[in-house]
Amino acid sequence: MALLLKKIIYRKDGGVMKIIVTGGAGFIGSNFIFYMLKKYPDYEIICVDKLTYAGNLSTLKGIMDNHRFRFVKLDICDRAGIYQLFEEELPSMVVNFAAESHVDRSIENPSVFLETNIMGTAVLMDACRKYGIQRYHQISTDEVYGDLPLNRPDLLFTEETPIQASSPYSSSKAAADLLVLAYHRTYELPVSVSRCSNNYGPYHFPEKLIPLVIVNALNDKPIPVYGTGENVRDWLYVDDHCKAIDLILHQGRVGEVYNIGGHNEMSNIDVVKTICNRLGKSHSSIAYVTDRKGHDMRYAIDSTKIQNELGWFPETRFSEGIQKTIQWYLENKDWWETIISGEYRNYYKKMYGDR
Ligand code: NAD
Ligand code: TYD
Repeated sequence: MALLLKKIIYRKDGGVMKIIVTGGAGFIGSNFIFYMLKKYPDYEIICVDKLTYAGNLSTLKGIMDNHRFRFVKLDICDRAGIYQLFEEELPSMVVNFAAESHVDRSIENPSVFLETNIMGTAVLMDACRKYGIQRYHQISTDEVYGDLPLNRPDLLFTEETPIQASSPYSSSKAAADLLVLAYHRTYELPVSVSRCSNNYGPYHFPEKLIPLVIVNALNDKPIPVYGTGENVRDWLYVDDHCKAIDLILHQGRVGEVYNIGGHNEMSNIDVVKTICNRLGKSHSSIAYVTDRKGHDMRYAIDSTKIQNELGWFPETRFSEGIQKTIQWYLENKDWWETIISGEYRNYYKKMYGDR
């Protein structure tokens, strides 16, 4: 009985668990909403999303009629709007995915990153303080730790690794992390933070490496690889990430940071070649282009803490995850064709036109 009670968490007013998920029309947030609605048949999810270029309502069309789901188009920086929503809904938890998330865009235009990623986080936490909350969870990134050299495979990011962000994106996420932990220390807000590695899977916006390669390869367009392609990322299948967040929300310790990694380091060029091979496309479309400014060399996560404390480990091997991802892009052409035929064309021309 005690175990059962521990697992089902009720809201203060006795109702069923209500979770505000911000950024739920984006890649990871939408996958998390699908995961939670399926896993917890009595939970209610309220998705708050500004619908920037990266947010896509069509992603959520399958759950729009679900009575346990509500979509609210709202900017997390809109203090009055956020307070009003909290007053209406009295959420038990907030999971903040909303962010400007693309490093290349942050290099072009940092200011919106500071606004959404830092100020938006502050607004959400102020609302949590005002209306009360069981848990505020911040979705962060391994990029706050900076990067690691290629010739030291023994080095991994732990939760104790100093923050040393490289890009405007990662420094805005790092600032938000510090703010979240400061709200815990100063106001005793029940927070947690997770720092994950590069996710991949369905509904990934095609500006990011893996979906960009799949989409360009399918369209027989050049595949841009920055610099030498030797940079290493640790790829985490999005469902494994969702499982980790679920565990942290329900069993993770308040005030703690948890690293979430895929145990799957690969160089960019190996990722690109793997996708080309799976699609039966020649490597001749690979185009080495001018490197990203300040390009982080290697990310690698030590996820011992979440493994030991919560029994989490990444279940999906890259060979399986990439196959599922490719299959999803093959079966959902409408989703990405609509994106790449819109404003994305201007973005692509600007970023890759003269590169
Ligand atoms: P995404 O860019 O696909 O989605 C972001 C979502 O946030 C979009 O739906 C967008 O409309 C919404 N949004 C942006 N600004 C907003 C605002 N001011 N108010 C409300 N909504 C707003 O991002 P993603 O890849 O799903 O990343 C989600 C989170 O995970 C981010 O916080 C990101 O920093 C973090 N993260 C992502 C990765 C990754 O590999 N994708 C890795 C580590 C951490
Ligand atoms: P990205 O998906 O943008 O994620 P992040 O920068 O957050 O790790 O990029 C992953 C890696 O792929 C990164 O090293 C940059 C590289 N990259 C390319 O080589 N070509 C591209 O067109 C893109 C978008 C990324």
